[in-house]
Amino acid sequence: MDLKIAVLPGDGIGPEIIEQAIKAIDATCKKYGHTVGYTYGSVGATAIDKTGNPYPEETHRICMQSDAVLFGAIGDPRFDNNPQAKVRPEQGLLEMRKKLGLYANLRPVSTFKSLVHRSPLRQELVEGADFICIRELTGGIYFGQPQGRSEDGQTAFDSCVYTKAEIKRICRLGFEYAMKRRNKLTVVDKANVLATSRLWRETVQEMAPAYPQVNVEYMFVDNAAMKLIQQPKHFDVIVTENMFGDILTDEASVITGSLGLLPSASIGIHTSLFEPIHGSYPQAAGKNVANPLATILSAAMMFEYAFNLKAAGASIRQAVDRSVEAGIVTEDIAEDGQAYPTSEVGDFIAKNIG
Ligand code: IPM
Ligand code: MN
Repeated sequence: MDLKIAVLPGDGIGPEIIEQAIKAIDATCKKYGHTVGYTYGSVGATAIDKTGNPYPEETHRICMQSDAVLFGAIGDPRFDNNPQAKVRPEQGLLEMRKKLGLYANLRPVSTFKSLVHRSPLRQELVEGADFICIRELTGGIYFGQPQGRSEDGQTAFDSCVYTKAEIKRICRLGFEYAMKRRNKLTVVDKANVLATSRLWRETVQEMAPAYPQVNVEYMFVDNAAMKLIQQPKHFDVIVTENMFGDILTDEASVITGSLGLLPSASIGIHTSLFEPIHGSYPQAAGKNVANPLATILSAAMMFEYAFNLKAAGASIRQAVDRSVEAGIVTEDIAEDGQAYPTSEVGDFIAKNIG
């Protein structure tokens, strides 16, 4: 195959972790006889500095003309500490998700055997935990209108909005994944308080009879937050709205031992995008210490989801497993004093793919 990949390194540690994923993709293509071409685009604070726009038209064009998008991270403390800033890097990510129609964000959570002892949770709780969170990505409170400030500046408001069609589209994926896995679907909402959540429940109840083999469960988000930590093995497929999914998946990363381990795939209408769930980690930018595994695993998801090249994806996963087992890992998951630089972890993995 000839693979056309848009590469958007973004901010902070983005460029250095992306570089490691590119090494892994190159090694995989070489091994399986695929050719690959990369087109780089700017996004986030980097794009604001260059063009004034966090998601420039040129970047959008590059994404639309590619088979898949590999994305690093977005965010810059210069903007976080300045609530008055008119343009923010994160707007670039949201606009990109919306314009590319990426309505579903798939965040699989599973543990590495050799890392379970790094989890702050007891080993017997986390060992074998394996679920996927399907987060709705282009609706809800992230995008609902009206959003803003009153004229006198004394009131601010966000709106959580969902249409039935949006709910159906994401929950259909939930049912389909449940059928491919252990037939268990947990719908996370706040139906005791929110009208949007009640529409979610109503919609899922209407859909459920078409999937008789799937065991559907409804859980309030506060309860789900507790259950994730108390009994992570309870879950198989979680489907939830945008903001609940954002929060719960950062929480879920604790199960695996590091936020630096969780990849994600965003799929939808025009293309698909692959990114680590972590942010731009500005304190580590340029220091060659950030964990590249989440991004490399996102590249594995790219082979599986975007190109349907399962063996290629599996060979990246195997190489990642090998690096974890061999202790060729960055400081966040290393045993005392045994941390390797980002670039060496990337080199080890690329070499093991080949
Ligand atoms: C994520 C991030 C983003 C989100 C931010 C950077 C806008 O936290 O991808 O989870 O909230 O969706
Ligand atoms: Mn997040």
